[in-house]
Amino acid sequence: MEKGIAFEAVRKIGIVGAGQMGSGIAQVAAATGYEVVLTDISDEILKRAQLSISSSCDRLIKKNSMSEDQKKNLLNLIQLSTQLSGEASPLAGCDLVIEAATENIDLKIKIFKELDKVSKPGTLLVTNTSSISITKMAAATRRPELVAGMHFMNPVPVMKLVEGIRGLQTSDETFKTVRAVAEKMGKTFVESVKDMPGFIVNRILMPMINEAIFTLHEGIASADSIDSAMKLGTNQPMGPLALADFIGLDTCLSIMNVLFTGLGDSKYRPSPLLVKYVEAGWLGRKSGRGFYQY
Ligand code: CAA
Repeated sequence: MEKGIAFEAVRKIGIVGAGQMGSGIAQVAAATGYEVVLTDISDEILKRAQLSISSSCDRLIKKNSMSEDQKKNLLNLIQLSTQLSGEASPLAGCDLVIEAATENIDLKIKIFKELDKVSKPGTLLVTNTSSISITKMAAATRRPELVAGMHFMNPVPVMKLVEGIRGLQTSDETFKTVRAVAEKMGKTFVESVKDMPGFIVNRILMPMINEAIFTLHEGIASADSIDSAMKLGTNQPMGPLALADFIGLDTCLSIMNVLFTGLGDSKYRPSPLLVKYVEAGWLGRKSGRGFYQY
């Protein structure tokens, strides 16, 4: 069994995918003092990620939780790159790589194969997937025991949880390192012992959001009423429809599809209204329209 890098030796963290999750993870890793390599397919996406990290830091500065100097140091720790593969890729020097690409199994498997090639021996390969099988991604590599799930929540700088998931092949040492890295980042690590669709959070959260969309579709209440009822009646910071817009309706739909096909129970069928909105390109905040207009 290949021995993975130990927690104490982790200095440099690679991140694949610079969307809202990848950039949030980059920010938190750099704030912890890790060197970070943030990669995506275009300079434009990377520039957008840098802007979003900068404005997130500004919010922290406003609250006196960060100084201008700390922000400068944090941004300096993040190297941006469009080079995912090949010897010249800066990912080759990373001790742990977190994949935070779109929720698409084929894409993720392709990335894991590439990361396995580019990474040095002992580098841990971790996925931020919210629902897809860790075991399957691990099996696509020659280092399955060094693969695990590390699921951050959005917005990453604010949310306290990291959900840790073992694939069938994940070694105890790998999982120990992943837990320790998450805790060093100031997060509370909760373990999903089994690699089952949706793990803990999305097994519970997504059916609730999906049910809220059914409730809207069946005309039981307006979007505002559904959200107010859940906010004021169950003390959630956002109603389920606003939260769906915040997460992205395409992401919500792909998670529901993973639950539906993976668990084979009709109670997980995605709401037809959710499917329609995604077909229309109404993906929530990121596209300017979802259940609300932005
Ligand atoms: N960076 C830094 N700080 C941020 C931030 C960011 N991106 N976003 C919000 N904040 C900070 C604000 O500065 C503010 O701090 P103070 O309270 O100390 O002043 C605090 O967070 C609250 O923000 P706001 O006042 O602007 O707005 P809010 O009170 O409406 O909170 C929220 C925003 C934190 C997003 C809150 O609405 C919330 O917790 N919503 C639920 C989020 C949630 O459930 N996330 C999980 C989604 S599921 C997931 O991610 C996993 C998956 O697989 C789908």
